[in-house]
Amino acid sequence: MKRVALVTGGTRGIGLGVARALAAEGFDLALCGRREEGEVAGVLEELRAKGGDVRYFRADVASRDDRDRLVAGLRAAFDGLHLLVNNAGIAPAARADLLEAGEESFDRLIAVNLKGPYFLTQAVARWMTEQNQKPGYRGTIVFVTSVSAEAASPNRGEYCVSKAGLAMTARLFAVRLAGDGIPVYEVRPGIVRTDMTAGVAETYDKRIGEGLLPQGRWGEPEDVGRLVAALARGDAAYSTGAVIPVDGGFSIPRL
Ligand SMILES: NC(=O)c1ccc[n+]([C@@H]2O[C@H](COP(=O)([O-])OP(=O)(O)OC[C@H]3O[C@@H](n4cnc5c(N)ncnc54)[C@H](OP(=O)(O)O)[C@@H]3O)[C@@H](O)[C@H]2O)c1
Repeated sequence: MKRVALVTGGTRGIGLGVARALAAEGFDLALCGRREEGEVAGVLEELRAKGGDVRYFRADVASRDDRDRLVAGLRAAFDGLHLLVNNAGIAPAARADLLEAGEESFDRLIAVNLKGPYFLTQAVARWMTEQNQKPGYRGTIVFVTSVSAEAASPNRGEYCVSKAGLAMTARLFAVRLAGDGIPVYEVRPGIVRTDMTAGVAETYDKRIGEGLLPQGRWGEPEDVGRLVAALARGDAAYSTGAVIPVDGGFSIPRL
């Protein structure tokens, strides 16, 4: 049986790193994002060249209607869904001090980074538990959070709060779905080279040069992709709820 993965925001950055790794594992892919399909055609073509079925759904994870349409579209397009990777996320449009930052950015980040994946996972988890009736079925859920779930950055508090909430979301689903045989993992990237960090690349180059990361280099989307592929294979089947850093050692307390 072909295994099918939904990677939210899977057409660039970390999500594309994950999609490439899953395509190499033989997964059929469903990707979603805000852009029109025509804008991501090149990426879809590249992934299809690996041999699997690759579908794109235009959906804003923050919108209830879009999430409903996405899940209905998945049910129509595929026989089942084996892996959900909650990757889509945004940073604040502008970093602002905690004493100045406004509510609009807070509301948007909570909607995209927390409420969207929370309720998308609820819908997918219902479907996965139905699929448990099928012999040999195995569902898996991954949340891509951030070291910002733990590390406090007072110039982007809303991002940190959204990721801390998402970390708890991963824990909640891990407990709820353990009895259904669906492991849930939190993958916690550090500083990864993508469009999201392009605007602050110089700052991070400098801080990495000064020793911020024990492993001394930027993370790449493939670093996250390889880990998600291992989780998808079932290599950590008895580790539901695990929080796995992909951060070059950033989170190791040091003296
Ligand atoms: N880069 C890092 O250093 C870093 C570190 C820790 C955690 N993370 C997390 O990793 C995830 C991916 O980040 P990235 O660096 O790869 O970001 P990115 O390069 O900006 O890509 C973000 C992806 O998410 C999609 N997306 C954004 N808002 C969406 C929405 N409302 N609905 C559906 N899709 C949406 C985008 O789709 P479109 O292309 O259609 O806009 C895009 O595919 C995020 O959750 C981020 O918080 C990143």
